[in-house]
Amino acid sequence: MHVSCEIMREGLWVVKKSLSMLFVCMALILAIGSTAVMGAKPVLKVGTSADFPPFEFQDEKTGAYLGFDMDLIHAIGKAADMEVQIVNTAWDGLIPGLLTGNFDCIISAMTITEERLKAVAFSDPYFAASQVIVTKTDDSSIKTVEDLKGKQISVQIGTTGDLEASEIEGAIVKRFNLAPDAIQEVRNGSVPACIIDLAVAEAISEQYKDIKFGEPITSEDYGIAIRKGNKELLEKINDALASIKASGEYDKIFADWFPID
Ligand code: ARG
Repeated sequence: MHVSCEIMREGLWVVKKSLSMLFVCMALILAIGSTAVMGAKPVLKVGTSADFPPFEFQDEKTGAYLGFDMDLIHAIGKAADMEVQIVNTAWDGLIPGLLTGNFDCIISAMTITEERLKAVAFSDPYFAASQVIVTKTDDSSIKTVEDLKGKQISVQIGTTGDLEASEIEGAIVKRFNLAPDAIQEVRNGSVPACIIDLAVAEAISEQYKDIKFGEPITSEDYGIAIRKGNKELLEKINDALASIKASGEYDKIFADWFPID
């Protein structure tokens, strides 16, 4: 009797000990788990169409996404304490992709337009832009929109360049999925003109001396697009944008991509 009591007591002690060990382990797992979750930054998924140097393009060798917009969104992510993830998407799939939730916002040299504002919200403007007419360097017949009447014009599909070209009387608009292809069409001699964003025309005509561009024909602002209901993110992005403007970081990024020569 005495012996069996002893064994029972011992057994109970073993059970107690292993139970308390189990609790310690569980508490440890919980603690480690929650710090891991707390330590991870929220992810900001960003849609872009990386076909638009110097705003967004892919490094040929490394595949990295580079450009003014890329630096800007990374600076915004840092200021908002979010981890930026770039999702490269065809230009005309960007707004649908945002609406279906493939990403949280779009940065893609996207002009704030009345039409787009019906579908999405935009951040405060972050870049003043315009459309220009690109022609062959030796073409002196096209200088203004008037000169484009009845002519063939290449554009990137669904852009503000497309919008402008489509309004020109008698113009035949050739639409391309990729912006560089629209410019290439002029270089090939397949169309006399392309309508595209000024800074892109500038960058590409610096590379290819056989094309030039004229005076701005529109006045536009780029914004970061966000789903309409996502007020919290809109505020975060606007606050981050304001803070990097105030700190001089915006100016630094601007000077990196648009040096004054
Ligand atoms: N600014 C023009 C627009 O909003 C063209 C933008 C094209 N962007 C691009 N990444 N391909 O319509």
